[in-house]
Amino acid sequence: MLSACNQPKSSNQGQNSNGTSKTTVFAPSDKENPDNLKHITEDLVAPPFLPNYEQAVSGDPVVVEVKLTVEEKKLEIAPGVKIWALTFNGSVPGPMIVVHQNDYVQLTLVNPSTNSLMHNIDFHAATGAMGGGDLSLVNPGEQVTIRFKATKSGVFVYHCAPGGTMVPLHVTSGMNGAIMVLPREGLKDENGNSVHYDKAFYIAEQDYYVPKDDKGKYKEYAKPSDAFDDMSKVFKTLTPTHIIFNGVTGSLTGKNALKANVGDKVLFITSQANRDTRIHLIGGHADLVWLGGSFNDKPATNYESWPVVGGSAVAMIYQFRQPGTYAYLNHNLIEAFFFGAVAQVKVEGKWDDNLMKQISKQGKITN
Ligand code: CU
Repeated sequence: MLSACNQPKSSNQGQNSNGTSKTTVFAPSDKENPDNLKHITEDLVAPPFLPNYEQAVSGDPVVVEVKLTVEEKKLEIAPGVKIWALTFNGSVPGPMIVVHQNDYVQLTLVNPSTNSLMHNIDFHAATGAMGGGDLSLVNPGEQVTIRFKATKSGVFVYHCAPGGTMVPLHVTSGMNGAIMVLPREGLKDENGNSVHYDKAFYIAEQDYYVPKDDKGKYKEYAKPSDAFDDMSKVFKTLTPTHIIFNGVTGSLTGKNALKANVGDKVLFITSQANRDTRIHLIGGHADLVWLGGSFNDKPATNYESWPVVGGSAVAMIYQFRQPGTYAYLNHNLIEAFFFGAVAQVKVEGKWDDNLMKQISKQGKITN
């Protein structure tokens, strides 16, 4: 019998659960000089869609230039309920940024002079003080450019964090989004084999705390800061007034439902910047789910519901096997059906009787 030290390397030795070379997470990152790397510009788009990108890449890391412009805007989050939304690029959540591990993100943050507040950005994907928050603080009328290296793969929240109680006030006014840092070789399934997805959607759950007047009517304010004292009082109840997917009630249901075809492998990325949630796809499962959003870990399989811890994003792939309208929701069903944390996916294709069939139609009880 071979002793351990003489044993030939088995196929699994030197491999992690994803089938990539085994290196400790403590390994120093490569020390290339980003000043010598190619720059590319990524045009960001509003969720639930993602910008153009490759699922797997080869070659040297690049510097990915992105621009976020802060927009303080009145937003009707439910019929008759208008808040001052604080946004990155005008949407709640802000746009998904996509890069590959060891790429550099070069962000220009613009705070137009028409805004009234100071803003910044804290990237959970970044390494260093305040996730870039201190380096990116801008007054109205200013812009700033910061760069960070995306050393860890996964999906990560970013959010405004201007300090103290302003942090939850800005985050719960919509100022959060996510970045996906893909492994350079792309995603791997539970057996370490490459997995390619056909489409991807970014769905963020947003909790809002809208103050009411004495008569129970939601209040409106002339400018964002006017709402802050009243919002702080609602915060202390720890009870949101609205829990909504992608910023506005109904933004992912009915005519706005997401679309897919039978056979599609769909990547769903869901973030919650402030509060825990739990996601479920009615009529489907999480074929693969990267808990905590970490692509460095082997994905879990076949979950019925999966957690998104407040301040994180989670990635899930499901291959649709049946047509129909699916609900993608927060499985606290009160939060889904009374508060609004629900999306729909309309899937077209051929029904498979083998997977589900009605054996006899509804009729009178016969025995
Ligand atoms: Cu802000």
